[in-house]
Amino acid sequence: MRRPMPPDGSNNLNENRLVSGSNQEDDHSLDNSLRPRSLDSYVGQDSIKSNLGIGITAAQQRGEPLDHLLLYGPPGLGKTTLANIISSEMGVRIKTTSGPAIERPGDMVAILSQLQQDEILFIDEIHRLNRVVEEVLYPAMEDFFVTWVIDKGLKARSMNLSLKPFTLIGATTRYGMLSAPLRDRFGSVSRLDFYNVDDMTKIVERSARILEVEAEAEGISEIAKRARGTPRVANRLLRRVRDYAQVIADNVITGEVASTALQTLSVDVLGLDGVDRDVLICIIDKFDGGPVGLDTIAASINEESETIEDVYEPFLLQLGFLDRTPRGRIATRKAYEHLGIKYVSRNGGDKLQARLDL
Ligand SMILES: Nc1ncnc2c1ncn2[C@@H]1O[C@H](COP(=O)(O)OP(=O)(O)OP(=O)(O)O)[C@@H](O)[C@H]1O
Ligand SMILES: [Mg+2]
Repeated sequence: MRRPMPPDGSNNLNENRLVSGSNQEDDHSLDNSLRPRSLDSYVGQDSIKSNLGIGITAAQQRGEPLDHLLLYGPPGLGKTTLANIISSEMGVRIKTTSGPAIERPGDMVAILSQLQQDEILFIDEIHRLNRVVEEVLYPAMEDFFVTWVIDKGLKARSMNLSLKPFTLIGATTRYGMLSAPLRDRFGSVSRLDFYNVDDMTKIVERSARILEVEAEAEGISEIAKRARGTPRVANRLLRRVRDYAQVIADNVITGEVASTALQTLSVDVLGLDGVDRDVLICIIDKFDGGPVGLDTIAASINEESETIEDVYEPFLLQLGFLDRTPRGRIATRKAYEHLGIKYVSRNGGDKLQARLDL
């Protein structure tokens, strides 16, 4: 289905969304200065951390590279951060690239053959590798060699080039889009989850300390609660609230300052913004609460299906505001209650009554 373009000519409302987990232009410098550098300073994701800690120690004791590792989960939860921490804990260099950046098989061969013993190759958005490039990875990951075809036509011959043992770390927001042969070649697969409020509080405290922002406990907690379990969002909200505190409130982030600032920025008590509410209201108002297909919702609110699925939906599912059924998305009773809309049961007589009243 064709979707109309937003009036600003961009094709993605998510680009400037304050509570989006996706990386935005302003985030780069902040991401870097606030990025934890060691497993100890990486808050939360405890089972991933403890498995990694063991894996790293074992690999070091054997003098071997770490097993290939796939990290997946919604944007802004700390996949890139974790890849960099692994490199520093292992004491090896990391070469960072991304799926769409590697266009031809030859580019992949070049990258792999330049890796030194035990080094890490980090491929972000690994689900976006094209198939021919991906195929170079299969023998590379399994047996540390690549097959390289020289010459063309009748003269074409293939050559095996051996590689130094390395670790591939792949990151993706779309586990389902990875091909089975690629998925199977990772020694371990870790799913990052949204952080709970305790962990988010620690993350905001840590960031406030690094940015030297004066914040009271209530102020920290207000930001932590509204950051959708996503560290990147927490850091972005902290920066915006800091601006507000600087101009309006003597540089101190109190509970009241944080809550007023976030209200002004249209971030509600659960961290939902206008676009989340649009998604829910669209399902409730235009489609009677659902079920309705993702593409139809996307077209109705002028957003891309992929963005809804990657960015908005995981958090709405986590809150229990949306249900995914084979016939489409459904807004739940909780969503109606949060939006202050009277719930009309999908199966019961209420709905019929509501229709008859019309
Ligand atoms: N566990 C954590 N503890 C403290 N801060 C964190 C943690 N995870 C992430 N952050 C902060 O959130 C920012 C975003 O994390 P990161 O870039 O690693 O996310 P990502 O999962 O790679 O996102 P994307 O899918 O967009 O690539 C980091 O710069 C860091 O400041
Ligand atoms: Mg990343």
